[in-house]
Amino acid sequence: MSELDGADNGYRVHVCYGPHCTPRGGRSLVPAFEAAIRRAGLGDRVEVLATSCRARCEDGPSVNVYPGPTFYGWVEESDIDTIVEEHLVGGRPVARLLVRPRPVRPVGRQRYTGKARRWTG
Ligand code: FES
Repeated sequence: MSELDGADNGYRVHVCYGPHCTPRGGRSLVPAFEAAIRRAGLGDRVEVLATSCRARCEDGPSVNVYPGPTFYGWVEESDIDTIVEEHLVGGRPVARLLVRPRPVRPVGRQRYTGKARRWTG
């Protein structure tokens, strides 16, 4: 277990380097996070990691913050100071950037209507 596994001990920021987030500027977020974290004096409490695809490609660039996890989507460099100040310093996730996992419909309550070409239930 890492010393950064608990909120009291710090955070880990995962930035997607996957094939959909990268063309949208995902890779530029790592150095931008590192610089913002240094400016905030959090270098010993926050770890930034490049990751593979997080399965939220349509919301990329995708950033996850642990503990949580908190899922952020459509993150741009201009959002990073806000994430650092509000979440990593203040402990409050940035609501306007949150991407919630999609709801999973219970299989037992679905049926396929055929004609309508859509699921109901
Ligand atoms: S490529 Fe980033 S979430 Fe899939």
